Amino acid sequence: EDDLESKLPLKGKKILITAGPTYEAIDPVRFIGNHSSGKMGFDIAKAAANLGASVILVTGPTHLKVENSLIEVVNVFSAQEMYDACHLHFNDTDVAIAAAAVADYKPKVIALQKIKKAADEFSIELEKTKDILSSLGKIKKKQFLIGFALETENEIENAKLKIQKKNLDLIVLNSLQDKGAGFQQPTNKVTFIDKEFKIEPMDLKSKESVAVDILNKVIEHFYV
Ligand code: CTP
Ligand code: CA
Repeated sequence: EDDLESKLPLKGKKILITAGPTYEAIDPVRFIGNHSSGKMGFDIAKAAANLGASVILVTGPTHLKVENSLIEVVNVFSAQEMYDACHLHFNDTDVAIAAAAVADYKPKVIALQKIKKAADEFSIELEKTKDILSSLGKIKKKQFLIGFALETENEIENAKLKIQKKNLDLIVLNSLQDKGAGFQQPTNKVTFIDKEFKIEPMDLKSKESVAVDILNKVIEHFYV
């Protein structure tokens, strides 16, 4: 019993994870997307399952695959679909981790036919997507809520503002300054900031190891 708890400390816990980019349709053949590979979110899902958690992995379009009886993959395309899937599962979740690179804006209208090439200049009107993490922060009860932040200036200050604005328990700040960190890279350099604003810079390491560090924070929350 004691042994099981130390080996599978997240057994019985439900964890919702978002991963990958979102694609916002422009017309039937085009979209606005980003370079997120989905690897960080998938690595968190695998590490969580290895610790015994049941995982709902809501992912935007990626090439990644995962086969694990503890991981249910929910494939989505747009920010709105990711929002709907997350809200469907959030109520009976113990932890939510938002690792997806969700589009901030989407085309105001989706053309029903392929847009034809015509004038020399062309622009698309965009409107804000819904902020999934902020919405979960507003409705959360006992859920432990973890967000990511990608900043290029005033990193710590901006990350602290995100903790407050989105009602988070912990934020994982991605440092793009360091070579080998971020999009399309196997490594990540992160800094943890908790809701008391305790700052913990971590070393540059593989995304697998960052995933384990994040789940250690989750374990601390339940056991310390
Ligand atoms: N996020 C989300 N839904 C959105 C936008 C962001 O759930 N529509 C989540 C991301 O998954 C991430 C966190 O919010 O965990 C922060 O994302 P980030 O892009 O750094 O911040 P934004 O709030 O979008 O602000 P900005 O891009 O202006 O820095
Ligand atoms: Ca954003």
